[in-house]
Amino acid sequence: MTFRNNYSGFVNHMRENPQIYTFKEMSEGNIKTYTLEEVSQHSDVDSLWLIIHDDVYDVTKFASEHPGGVEILLDWAGQDATDGFEDANHSLDAREEMENYKIGELCQEDRGKQFETNDNNKWKWCKILIPSVIITVSAIVIAQILWRMRK
Ligand code: HEM
Repeated sequence: MTFRNNYSGFVNHMRENPQIYTFKEMSEGNIKTYTLEEVSQHSDVDSLWLIIHDDVYDVTKFASEHPGGVEILLDWAGQDATDGFEDANHSLDAREEMENYKIGELCQEDRGKQFETNDNNKWKWCKILIPSVIITVSAIVIAQILWRMRK
């Protein structure tokens, strides 16, 4: 079997038959690895990366065509989106299509972690906190006005 000019075929063969490849040969497969911090730099429409099952995907070009919408991808941009991806019950076709966007894997050290200072997470908190504060303050002011009017 020859894998000349067929990188993904070679990588798949290595994965399916780990017993016949030494660690050195697997490294020579040149699978690029990224840290969580590197992935977190790609969190907007201009550069949108996702981690799914410890693989890293660049979905920048695909995002606008995603049948589930671009917004949901942006919500998870630069982060581990495995839970969101699995919650959406993607079809086998979708799982095959993913391979077109794979650019590498998450480095071993960062697996199982989330990038803690992700700006997206901070922004999500602001989106919840600011309206809650505005609603609470408005309710107090309206209650006081009504209470004074009744006197
Ligand atoms: C490379 C990554 C992804 C690819 C290639 C992909 C592809 C697709 C495809 C082909 C569909 C149509 C339905 C299907 O065939 O399953 C779909 C639907 C959807 N996807 Fe994705 N998706 C990706 C990532 C994600 C992620 C990370 C999320 C959420 C965090 C997500 C959420 C959804 C949702 C909510 C739907 C709509 C499901 C429905 O209407 O029933 N997708 N996606």
